[in-house]
Amino acid sequence: MQLEILGNADIVTEQNGALVIKTRQAEARVWVYSPTIIRVCISKDFSGLDESLAVIEKPLDDFTWQHLTDIVELTTSALKLIINLKPLRFNFYAANGQPLSEDDQRFGTNWQGDRVINYRKLYADEKFIGLGEKAGDLNRRGCNYVNWNTDAAMHTITTDPLYKTFPFFIGLHNGLTYGLFFDNTHKSYFDFGATTAEQMSWFGADGGDMNYYFFGAQGVRNILEDYTWLTGRMEMPPLWSLGYQQCRWSYMSADEVLDVARKFREKNIPADVMYCDIDYMDGYKIFTWNKETFPDPKGMIDELKAMNFRLVTIVDPGIKIDENYNEYKEGVDKHYFATYPNGELYTASVWPGRCHFPDFLNEDVRDWWGASFKALTDPGVEGFWNDMNEPAAWGQNIPWLVKFGDKFMPEIRNVYGMQMARATYNGTKGLLNNKRPFILTRAAYAGTQRYSAVWTGDNAATDEHMLFGQRLVNSLGLTGMSLIGVDIGGFMGNPTPELMVRWNSLGPYTPMYRNHAALGMSMREPWQWGKAYEQVIKKDIEQRYKLLPYIYSGFYQSTQTGLPLSRTLAIDYTTDENVFDTKYQNQFLFGDSILVAPIISTVESVDVYLPVGDWYRLSTDEKFAGGQVVNISCPLTDLPVFVKAGGIIPMQNVIQSTNEAGDGVLLIHVWNGDEASEFVFYEDDGTSYDYQSGVYYKRVISFDPQKREVVFGLVEGSFVSKHSKVQVVWHGFEGDSKVGMENNNQSFTISYSYLSF
Ligand code: GLC
Repeated sequence: MQLEILGNADIVTEQNGALVIKTRQAEARVWVYSPTIIRVCISKDFSGLDESLAVIEKPLDDFTWQHLTDIVELTTSALKLIINLKPLRFNFYAANGQPLSEDDQRFGTNWQGDRVINYRKLYADEKFIGLGEKAGDLNRRGCNYVNWNTDAAMHTITTDPLYKTFPFFIGLHNGLTYGLFFDNTHKSYFDFGATTAEQMSWFGADGGDMNYYFFGAQGVRNILEDYTWLTGRMEMPPLWSLGYQQCRWSYMSADEVLDVARKFREKNIPADVMYCDIDYMDGYKIFTWNKETFPDPKGMIDELKAMNFRLVTIVDPGIKIDENYNEYKEGVDKHYFATYPNGELYTASVWPGRCHFPDFLNEDVRDWWGASFKALTDPGVEGFWNDMNEPAAWGQNIPWLVKFGDKFMPEIRNVYGMQMARATYNGTKGLLNNKRPFILTRAAYAGTQRYSAVWTGDNAATDEHMLFGQRLVNSLGLTGMSLIGVDIGGFMGNPTPELMVRWNSLGPYTPMYRNHAALGMSMREPWQWGKAYEQVIKKDIEQRYKLLPYIYSGFYQSTQTGLPLSRTLAIDYTTDENVFDTKYQNQFLFGDSILVAPIISTVESVDVYLPVGDWYRLSTDEKFAGGQVVNISCPLTDLPVFVKAGGIIPMQNVIQSTNEAGDGVLLIHVWNGDEASEFVFYEDDGTSYDYQSGVYYKRVISFDPQKREVVFGLVEGSFVSKHSKVQVVWHGFEGDSKVGMENNNQSFTISYSYLSF
C-alpha cells in the first residue's frame, strides 16, 4: 500500500463560496459557516461529495482571504486560518494570533490506500474531552479510540468501541479552547498522543474524505453552542419521559405490566412510564403483539393511562423472514432490505431468528418504517425504544460487501442507528397528531439529538459501572445529546441492595431516570429491596418529581443552546486542573446550579472537590467554601449534592405522575450568594408542539445579592402556568428578603408567604 501525501498547492481560487486549493494529488475546499466555524474538506475526488447526515446548516456565501507568496490567509472576526501552500497545511489561530490547533507540519493529511489520516501538532499542556460514549477518563490525552458502532453486550469499563459514534472532540490548551468535528461515517480513529510518545495527535478513517469542521469559539459552552447550531438541537421532550421509568426485559404479559404499575400507585411511589421489551411481540416480529400474553393492547394501555402511566415499546431493525408477516412481505416486494451485491437479500440472525434489515438510508424505507408504527400508536403507545441498531447481528461481523442502496456496509454502519431513529421519530410524530413522541436509541451518530434520546446499553450491576455510566453521560453531554440514561441498577448481574439504593440516589440527577435489567436477573422495582430501602428509593424518586420544574427548564436550555443537563465540570471550570483529577472527574453539574458527586455504595464518606465559589449541601444547607477538597459524609440516604451560592432552583411538591396537576404551588428555592444570578424558568403543556408557536410560559427569575431580592421578570409566551402560586424559599439568609414581580411593578417583603405566579 502506498503512502500518498497531500503535496504542494499550485492552484488557489474561490468557487461558489468555497476556497479551492489544488495539489497534484488532491483538492482541498474551505468554507466559512460563521466567524467561529470553518470547514475543511480534503479529497482525492470531489465528484461524489456526500450530503452530510449530521450537518443542517449551510456555509456563508462570502469570506475574506488573501493569497500571499506561499500562504493563504483566511480571516473572520474570530479566527485566522493560515494555509501553508508548500506543502499544503492548515493552521488555525485565534484572532489575536495565538495558535489554536495546527497540522503536524511534517505529515499533515495523507492517504494509505483509501484510509485518510490527519496528523496534528500536540501542545505540551493540551487536554482533550469529548467523543461521546467512550471508555476512559474525562481527559482523553494519551488514549486512542475507534468509532465503529457495536452491540457491546457484556462490555467492561475499558471496552472500545461501544454503541455510538460522535467524532467530535474539544481541545484545551494555554487557556484556549477549540473543537473539531470529523464528519466522516466510515470506521474512524482518534489518537490523542497515545502512540506517538506524546509527539502528535492524529485522527482519520478507513474511507471517505478528510472532512472536518473547526470550531474556534472560546469557552466550552460557546463551542457546544456552535456545534449544536451546526448539527441541530433536541426538541422539548415529552414531560412524561422525564418522570421515573420502569423497564425490564421483559414484563412478560399485560397482566404483569399492569400489576407493576398498580403497585407503584398503591405504594405512592411516583412513576410515569412502563416499558414492554421484546416479549410483547409475536415471535419478535416488529409491529406485532403476542396474542396470548398481550391479547388487548389498547385495553392494557387504557388502563395504564387511567393510572397516569405511558407505555414505551421496543423495536429492533431485524425483520423476521416469515411468509405470513406483512412487514417481511412488503419489505421484500418493495426492495427495502439490505442486499448482497448480486441482489440477494442479506440475511443474519437476531432475536427473531433469521432476518432482513431495512435500508434506513433510503427515504422511502424510512417513510414505510415510520408508517408501520400505526400498529403501536393505534392502541396508544407514545414511546419507541430503538434497540440493536448498530446494527446488531449474532456474530457481529456484517460482511463488508452488504449493500444499503448504492453504499456498502462500512460506510453506513455508524449512521444506521441514527437513521432508524430518524425514521421512527418522523413516522411516530406524524401518527401522534401533535403529540411529542419519545424516542430512545442505542446506536447513534452526530446529530442524533434532533430525533432521539440515548442510553448507554448493557452495563453491569457494579459500583464501577455506576461511576463509568456517569462518565459516559457527562461525555455524551459534550455531543449535543442531553436526554441520556443508563440502566439504573445495572443490566447484567444483580446489584446488592446498597448498590441499588445508591444508584437510585443518582437517578434524580440522571437526565433520563430509567430502571432496567436483563432477562433472568433479579426483579428491580423499588419494593424489591426491603421496607427500609424502599423508603429511601421512594424519597429519591420523589426528589426527581420535586425537581421537575428545574429539570424541564434545563431541557429548555438544551433546546436553545445545546448545553446538556448533566455537565462535566470541564464545561464551566475548564482551566481548573482538579476537575480532570481521576478522583473527581465523575462529578458534574446538573443544570446551572446543582453539583453532584457520584459515589460507590460501600463507603460512607468521600472527598469531593468543590470548584471556586461557595456551595451549600442540598440536604442540610451546610455552607462550604469552594476551590478545595472537602470530606463529606455520605450514608446511603444522602448522596453528596451541592447547590452553588446564588443558585435558583424551582421545585414543586411531590406528585405521583407528570399527568397530575399538582397543588399549583411553585417553590423557588434561592441560596444566598455574593453574585447576581438568574434562572430562565420555562413551562409548556409538556405534550404537544404548541410551544413552537408561542404557547409556553417563560420568565427570568433573578437574584440581586445587594438588595437581597428575587425578581420575577415579565412573562413571555401565551401558556397559562399550571402553577398559580409561588413561594420563595430562602437558604442561607438571615433577616428579611424581598420578592419583586415585574408584572405589577411592586416589591413585596416576604419570607414564607405565597404570591400568585
Ligand atoms: C439488548 C438491549 C437491552 C434489551 C435487550 C432485549 O441487550 O440493550 O436493553 O433489554 O436487548 O431486548
